[in-house]
Amino acid sequence: EQIKKGNYDHFMQKEIHEQPHSLTTTMRGRLKDNSVVLGGLKDHLKTIRHSRRIIFIGCGTSYNAALAARPFLEELSGIPVTMELASDLLDRQGPIYREDTAVFVSQSGETADTLLALEYALGNGALCVGVTNTVGSTLARRTHCGVHINAGCEIGVASTKAYTSQIVVMAMMALAIGADKISTQPRREAIINGLSDLPKNVAEVLKLDGEMRDLAKSLIDTQSLLVFGRGYNYATALEGALKVKEVALMHSEGMLAGEMKHGPLALVDETLPIIVIATHDACFSKQQSVIQQLHARKGRLIVMCSEGDATSVCPMGSCRVIEVPQVADCLQPVINIIPMQLLAYHLTVLRGYDVDQPRNLAKSVTTE
Ligand code: G6P
Repeated sequence: EQIKKGNYDHFMQKEIHEQPHSLTTTMRGRLKDNSVVLGGLKDHLKTIRHSRRIIFIGCGTSYNAALAARPFLEELSGIPVTMELASDLLDRQGPIYREDTAVFVSQSGETADTLLALEYALGNGALCVGVTNTVGSTLARRTHCGVHINAGCEIGVASTKAYTSQIVVMAMMALAIGADKISTQPRREAIINGLSDLPKNVAEVLKLDGEMRDLAKSLIDTQSLLVFGRGYNYATALEGALKVKEVALMHSEGMLAGEMKHGPLALVDETLPIIVIATHDACFSKQQSVIQQLHARKGRLIVMCSEGDATSVCPMGSCRVIEVPQVADCLQPVINIIPMQLLAYHLTVLRGYDVDQPRNLAKSVTTE
């Protein structure tokens, strides 16, 4: 086991730090001369482009990865994209039609609820697409087509490298589905360039390890943590909070910043730490105003911003700032989740909990 962990103390730590490599393998052979080639999808692209709706279905971190992909899939395909937690779809027996494309996202390819939702969608005649890390899994075998994320074996119960590889695969899917649109070609080229540079930028953001350990030290005894995000980074807020919750066993909630005034604002005081994700994109000025409002209520703020933006997000120097490299807006969730993964990891170690096997949780939930 120690050999498999290499120089790391835990699998989760190893898997966080190997992301420049896992993302490289995810993209290997798939980005070619300003276009994307996904062998497992190419014969079905026409059907997907004609579908009435794309439905993302998953559980846990895989659902969050799909949520991160939703904005750019909508933008590049022009098709409405809806989200389903597999268990909720099954509870409601929600409508699914022959004209739908259902995309199932699962690291293991064996999560019971996701597989039951797959059988349900197959029964309703939808085109079923799989996104999984596990070759030969039930998900890979039962879907009509799909893409392997090729992130390498993930052992830590809390998913880290699979999350970033899932987002990258769905970015490549969105580029392939939207490839017939001339009007978005410059945007597609910019995203493809962003994908090529991503491993380098991920290596850069991993240098925040020490800083995130210091932040973890300052949060070690807190009861609760809130994470506010929106737009491309709504998913980052949910996934960052999930990481802290599942491994550090600390209550934490990811929230849509646009909903702040509809309840969460009542929780703000000098003691509750709040992480606000405010990297540069179309929602930046709205996040600046969120920061001002939280500041006015004396919130204990930690702001994640793009490199060089520290003074514009936090003019009074009154909050803690985490500066991350700026990449193409829709790929920013891949960068922004990494400090959150590091924070969750260090909080867990400092609080003395089991990093790779959090209590009560399983890597793959194979019962309903
Ligand atoms: C479990 C794991 C999570 C994972 C979820 C979905 O809850 O602990 O890390 O995100 O299942 O698993 P899947 O294999 O379908 O991605």
